[in-house]
Amino acid sequence: MTIDTQKPAFDLDYAITDFIAGTTRDSVYIYQAIEDTMVDLASEVPGGRVLDVACGTGKVAMRIAERGCFTLGAEASMEMIGLGRYVQPESRALMVRSIAEELPFPDDSFDRVICQGSLDHFVDGHAFMREAARITKPNGRVVIALANFESVSCRLGRRIDRFRWRIGRPRPSWRRYWQTPEDHNVRGDMPYIRSLGGDALVLDRCTGISMLWLLFGYGTFLDRLPEGVARTVWNGLDRLARHRPQHSDMVISVWRKPGAPAWPAR
Ligand SMILES: C[S@@+](CC[C@H](N)C(=O)[O-])C[C@H]1O[C@@H](n2cnc3c(N)ncnc32)[C@H](O)[C@@H]1O
Repeated sequence: MTIDTQKPAFDLDYAITDFIAGTTRDSVYIYQAIEDTMVDLASEVPGGRVLDVACGTGKVAMRIAERGCFTLGAEASMEMIGLGRYVQPESRALMVRSIAEELPFPDDSFDRVICQGSLDHFVDGHAFMREAARITKPNGRVVIALANFESVSCRLGRRIDRFRWRIGRPRPSWRRYWQTPEDHNVRGDMPYIRSLGGDALVLDRCTGISMLWLLFGYGTFLDRLPEGVARTVWNGLDRLARHRPQHSDMVISVWRKPGAPAWPAR
């Protein structure tokens, strides 16, 4: 892996304003679906111990805690931890400041270690995966949600933009959605995701979420439809994405330790 030495080693100052969530229906639906899937996968073991790494404001960790799991969030930015505490002071989820590549927990201590939309921000995603394997119980699972920059949407978007630029349309000064963001250290796609387990973890299952997210005109098209119709279109593409993670907008991969029984056995 090449590390960009111009960048600080770790991003300790991530702020909520660094996160730009879309407001069109395709964005609203995908964020909800990712979060719901992560919460379901994290709480598969009733009353289990769950760690959400790079949890941001801890929104997901707090939902998992509501399901009766002992839940911890690990996060590098004090601002994100503070904001989460401010928004939901009553939550039973605990949050600790720590770096994903060196987690301050003993071996075999969690049933589920999850990481949503953050691994591509890490300096060393593989180091995090080794840490996740170390602190996961022998029959536990590591669950990773990562944006796919080789989705149908990204591939089509890239082609459409190149065509527009070739015919003389102006290049926008802002980042196009199919380009890797500044604060990402890697470009998420299936080959990268498959490489994540190394010797420490085995891929147990993989699913995709949503298709065509952010593609030119798709979000505004859904916005013009009545809610029920828009939901049906989105659900149809999402069902396809679940079986074709390599083409989907977001990939959720579930990992087990070598020697642990494969899914669905738990
Ligand atoms: C895009 S946000 C996602 C937050 C949350 N998981 C969610 O889905 O809302 C990425 C988060 O990763 C955190 N982060 C970046 N590098 C980190 C590292 N090496 N260790 C721990 N957290 C890190 C940032 O502070 C930020 O809160």
